[in-house]
Order: sequence, then structure tokens, then C-alpha cells
Amino acid sequence: MNLIIFGPPGAGKGTQSSFLVKRKKMFQLSTGDLLRNELSSASDLSRKLKEIMDSGKLVSDDIINDLIEKKISDPEIKNNIIFDGFPRNIDQAKSLDKMLYKYKQKISKVINLEVDYSILIKRISGRVSCSICKKPFNEYFDPPGKDTYCTSKECFRRELVKRSDDNENTVTSRLKTYDEQTLPILKYYRYKGIVKDVDAMKSINEVTDQISGIISDI
Ligand code: AP5
Repeated sequence: MNLIIFGPPGAGKGTQSSFLVKRKKMFQLSTGDLLRNELSSASDLSRKLKEIMDSGKLVSDDIINDLIEKKISDPEIKNNIIFDGFPRNIDQAKSLDKMLYKYKQKISKVINLEVDYSILIKRISGRVSCSICKKPFNEYFDPPGKDTYCTSKECFRRELVKRSDDNENTVTSRLKTYDEQTLPILKYYRYKGIVKDVDAMKSINEVTDQISGIISDI
């Protein structure tokens, strides 16, 4: 089963993907994480990427499709992928269909995390993530404990970091980009009959339960 986890910045895509990785042993393909890995080098490309990401705009489709194809073609994760943060526009959605067809795979469901935008600024400004496993925590809603370290077993006591694009100005621009370019894709997937809406205003565990219910019959 391949899934797309869909929703605006801060909706909980990464949080719920972590659950699917743990419980269902799926592979999380987060284009945001792949891009942030690229930022660690001191190349021209990395400087350009940082500028685009900090402005809340989308990185070019060529770069993204290249990153994605490398993963889709990997037989080790075939039909076991959660697409987190991809596709982000209609051209990426069409490229994904072509790549999946080429590697004999398909999307089983699009999990659409529905959330009021009013809550997103708080979710994003409170977010801290593990520097190793990337698990997100939240200073307001899901505090990591009295220590500011990751509490997951695998990387216990690793440092928690804040993202440079998690500030109010960039978030406003990321939401605008989402509304203009990403949200219209939902219509494309609704037409295919594979969208499942989830109330992502509920607690993290309640959202997880809704997703478990959806994927149990796939
Ligand atoms: P990306 O990293 O994909 O960011 P995003 O889509 O903006 O999403 P976020 O990671 O901010 O949010 P999330 O939904 O994963 O929320 P999370 O689970 O962390 O992209 C960053 C940038 O990279 C883009 O702006 C763009 O420039 C570029 N990019 C990436 N992909 C691209 C693509 N395909 N094409 C072109 N450019 C691309 O949760 C947020 C916080 O809320 C956490 O603290 C969490 O603990 C908390 N929380 C989660 N769920 C709940 C809940 N139910 N109740 C209370 N708190 C909750």
C-alpha cells in the first residue's frame, strides 16, 4: 500500500507519518526532509534551496521529481511508501502517476488532514523536531518532557531543533502557496475516488485512530 498524507503546513503530516513508520513499518518519503538534508552541504544549490524554503515558495519540480524517482525505483520500499509533502502541485501529481505506472505501483489512499488555519501558527511556532529521527514534538500540544531532548527509544536524549522556516512570516507565505498550488490537487484525487478526510483538529492520538481505521480495510 502507498499512501499520500495531505494537508497544510502544520496539519500533522510528519507526526502521523511517524506513527505509520512505527506501527506499519512503512517508509516515510518526506520531500521537506529530503530537501533539508541537502541544505547541510555548502553548495550553490543548497544556498538556493534555503532561500526558496525560507520564502515559503515551492522548489522546482525538476529537483523534486528527481528526488522522488530515486526512491520510487527502490525495490526495498516498493508499495510501502507514505508520501509526506508531495505532490505539491498538479504537475507533480501527474508526474507521480507516471512514475508509479513505470514502477508498477499505485496510490491506495490520500489521507486528507482537515484543520482550521487559526491553529496552524501555534502548531508551527511550537514545533521542535529530533535532529536524528525527525520526530516532531510541540512545546504547547505535545511537549517532549522537562528535558529538551527526543524521547523516542532509538535516539533517546538527542537534541531537538527548530526549523528556520517556522516563523510567522514564512508560515503565512507557506499557507498562501498551499491554497494556490497544493489544495487544487485534492480535486484531482477526489475524482479518482481515493480521498479519505480526517478531522485533524482532534488530539494526535485521535487522529492516529482515524487513520488506523481507514487503512485497516486496505
Ligand atoms: P515541508 O517540510 O513538507 O513542510 P510543510 O508541508 O509546510 O509541513 P510541515 O512539516 O510544516 O507540517 P506537518 O503537516 O508535517 O506537521 P507536523 O506533523 O510537523 O516543506 C518545507 C518546504 O520545503 C516547503 O515550504 C517548500 O519550500 C519545500 N518543499 C517540500 N516539499 C516540496 C515539494 N514537493 N515541492 C516543492 N517544494 C517542496 O506537526 C506540526 C506541529 O504540530 C508539531 O509540533 C506537532 O507536534 C504538532 N501537532 C501535530 N498534530 C497535532 C494535533 N493533532 N494536535 C496538536 N498538535 C499537533
